[in-house]
Amino acid sequence: MNRGVVAEWQRQLVESASRLLAENRSGGFTRPSSGQYPHQWNWDSAFIAIGLARIDAGRARDELLTLVRGQWSSGMIPHIVYHGGASSYFPSPDFWGTDELAAAPAVTTSGFTQPPILATAVRKLAESSGGAGQDPFARALFPALMSWHRWLHAARDPDGSGLVAIIHPWESGTDNSPRFVTALERLGAVTPPPYLRKDQHFVAPAERPVAGDYDLFMYLIGRYRDLAWDDALLYREAPFLVQDVLFNSVLYRAERDLLSLARELGEETGEIEGWLSAARAGFDRLWDEASGLYFDWDVRAAEPLVENTCASLSPLYAGVCTEGRAQRLVSEHLLNEEEYAPGAGSRYFLPTVSKNSLHFEPRRYWRGPIWLNINWLLIKGLREYGFTEEAEVMRNHTIELVRRSGFVEYYDPRDGSPCGAANFSWSAALVIDLLLEDEVQDV
Ligand code: GLC
Repeated sequence: MNRGVVAEWQRQLVESASRLLAENRSGGFTRPSSGQYPHQWNWDSAFIAIGLARIDAGRARDELLTLVRGQWSSGMIPHIVYHGGASSYFPSPDFWGTDELAAAPAVTTSGFTQPPILATAVRKLAESSGGAGQDPFARALFPALMSWHRWLHAARDPDGSGLVAIIHPWESGTDNSPRFVTALERLGAVTPPPYLRKDQHFVAPAERPVAGDYDLFMYLIGRYRDLAWDDALLYREAPFLVQDVLFNSVLYRAERDLLSLARELGEETGEIEGWLSAARAGFDRLWDEASGLYFDWDVRAAEPLVENTCASLSPLYAGVCTEGRAQRLVSEHLLNEEEYAPGAGSRYFLPTVSKNSLHFEPRRYWRGPIWLNINWLLIKGLREYGFTEEAEVMRNHTIELVRRSGFVEYYDPRDGSPCGAANFSWSAALVIDLLLEDEVQDV
């Protein structure tokens, strides 16, 4: 869909989003939010690069090259890279206990990862310079991408189930999502290492995770630090081990992009094709025919984590569901007013938790507010299956939210009012992408 001339208000919105990204810039990377998140985050950087690709491809490439400087020799690309050392943010760099590890890079990083959007961002950049075959940047980054994806499969799916597992809710990118409640409850009463949280300085406590959740997050980091972040030990002993639908959907889509990069670069494709086909069988296991939803799988308890959240819809973005399943996700859930659609108390797409969940809280972090990266993923997913009108409605809602409330971290689905951190980079970047997209060239 070529939308043709960009209207004046759209041009102004792109300008203010670009200004925000310039203000949040710190050397080679972009802070997700200068106050609340002053370091480099993994999937934030990939989303930011997707937006930057539309306005400044050179800066988008710098963003990703800077992220890859945090890659471990094992292949892992960590969820936070602390280029500038300590700041007002907690956990501080030393809290992770990663500095002395043989696999760790020169710059201090966290000890685990985040959803792998990176290959998708590299492919988008390659497309904008005429394809990977013509793009030295794609060629230069391809080995780092392959080694990260190899690590994901080897370290997090050593038994070859086709799906990778996360060891901490923060690896999901949706930190306090209610889909993890049951898996975390099984940990019982925990004693976290001593810590002082600082996340409530810039954001109201009512919009942040509750104290009990924070204790669990810190407890798990403490356990893994004691295991010296050793991949084999972590997989064997992590008390939280979950095959997350959203993480695996992002991974699947990224590996479709990796496959197309490999083809254009004249690289071997067999290994990537193997990952994709094993994942398809894995996703079949996550499908629940009775409810018509996908659920996470708790590897430790060997049971599904039955909770209806935006993650349940994310296989649309992967492009991994049959037409029939896609139809059920959309008609029974996404368009259902009791769950995600506007009406019954909400005005905008897409609450991150089904409105009829007992855990739904419209202003608390990943317990219900709208996050624009999830909207973006689902817009792509809806288009993938031909739901173009529904995708257009969600795109319009996304743009309306930022016009109404600015580029914030998340939005109250009841009225679109702002929540969380101000000046949030991926909200700006992804709106740039949506405003300047041209479906003819879009991938
Ligand atoms: C929060 C989000 C996470 C994001 C980070 C930085 O922790 O849950 O997804 O990467 O902030 O923006």
